[in-house]
Amino acid sequence: MIIVTNRGPARFTRAPDGSFSAQRGAGGIVGVLGPNLSAEKDERIQWVATAMTDDDCAAVAAGKAELPGVDLELLVLEPRVHRLHYDVISNATLWFLHHGLFDLPRRPRFDHRFRDAWDAYVTVNRAFVERIADSASPGDVALVHDYQLSLVPGLLTKTRPDLRIVHFTHTPFCGPNSIRVLPDDVAHDIARSMVQVPCGFHTSRWASAFEASMTAVLGHDHRPTRVFVSPFAADAGDVLETRDSTATRDAIVELENHLGDRKLILRSDRIDPSKNIVRGFLAFDLLLREHPEWRERVVFVAMLNPSRESLPEYQAYRQEVEQAAAMVNERWGRADWTPVELDLRDDFPRAVAGYARYDVLLVNSLKDGLNLVAKEGPIVNQRHGVVCLSPEAGAFDELREAVLAVHPYDVDQNARALHDALSMPSDVRRERATRLRELASARTPAMWLGDLVDAAGPRR
Ligand code: G6P
Repeated sequence: MIIVTNRGPARFTRAPDGSFSAQRGAGGIVGVLGPNLSAEKDERIQWVATAMTDDDCAAVAAGKAELPGVDLELLVLEPRVHRLHYDVISNATLWFLHHGLFDLPRRPRFDHRFRDAWDAYVTVNRAFVERIADSASPGDVALVHDYQLSLVPGLLTKTRPDLRIVHFTHTPFCGPNSIRVLPDDVAHDIARSMVQVPCGFHTSRWASAFEASMTAVLGHDHRPTRVFVSPFAADAGDVLETRDSTATRDAIVELENHLGDRKLILRSDRIDPSKNIVRGFLAFDLLLREHPEWRERVVFVAMLNPSRESLPEYQAYRQEVEQAAAMVNERWGRADWTPVELDLRDDFPRAVAGYARYDVLLVNSLKDGLNLVAKEGPIVNQRHGVVCLSPEAGAFDELREAVLAVHPYDVDQNARALHDALSMPSDVRRERATRLRELASARTPAMWLGDLVDAAGPRR
């Protein structure tokens, strides 16, 4: 089996003595899938991904980009080509498209710079195909992931027709009106590639949008090969093990000492406009205005990982996030109470400590393919915490009966939901949290992987 992702399951760090160590890759799917695959003993697992950092490239050059249980192949790309593929097309164009983030009167602008970037995108997708074609055994299953690699299915089908290829999208997929924003030939190339293999999504919403977009671009004569829905799962064993680790136990103690008997509203996200972090702070601001009884009795901890900082949109959004938090603190803070605490450390054990301790978990994404935090949090939580979840996150479909819905644009409604969550009677909280834990752990990563392999079909 070959797993193909843009970001690999580990990032490598070079120590001053020249040795390399591997850390869990950022991003929910690779973080969960990596450890699960290495547990599979009977089959050879290859993983093709991009060397994302200078240290990754150095690890490849030194022959040290290695992981136990997985044959890892990191592609070292020419820096300019890499930047255009990752920043301009994958993040500033396709991520924005699928999450509905374009400010359409101003962006996007498709000009000669976009065309250079599109050429680079094609080049990187070809480089992936060459590497897979060179290393795949006859009849192998190739599981290709996400918008960074949307041309791989079509190119690989031509180069290696013997392979059983599946494409899985971890983001939402834009609808037919949005896909028309792309230049006609670009939309056409993406669609022609994807319809050639089975395509998977986390919810039926994104699957239907994909089908409608394919019809809008290609007409009724080119139906997708097969479209399937398989929501990704949290690895309950792994997050519970992390909760019991020394690092997390220490972090829980630190958090407890800091919070005392105050309630905790938690969020844990990459700093990404799609996560809707600013409106979350505005809702908290409104809560403190409308409900003075919560002042000094609740702390909003935002564990945020800086992300894609080479893009001006992400730099600007980070500033807005910091300003919104500062505004709430200036307005309501007291000498011994900081209402909003930003924690920008990228530290998984610490995030799990937050999961264990929250009273309210806020996930108010504008749009989100699944949102793994909404599943991992309830599995780990020890206080019958309430999850406030956006219906625009794919996980909502599975968890809806035991969460409070938060409309991503309705700040008033969010403030009311936070109040309802904080004031919920303890017996109701217990009942809902128990049900939520069942729903969040109903599926396993192995079930998800099995669905993808089934979609690949039998060996031909
Ligand atoms: C989402 C995408 C992944 C991506 C991850 C982190 O989960 O579905 O493909 O790897 O975000 O984004 P990044 O740009 O840092 O890889």
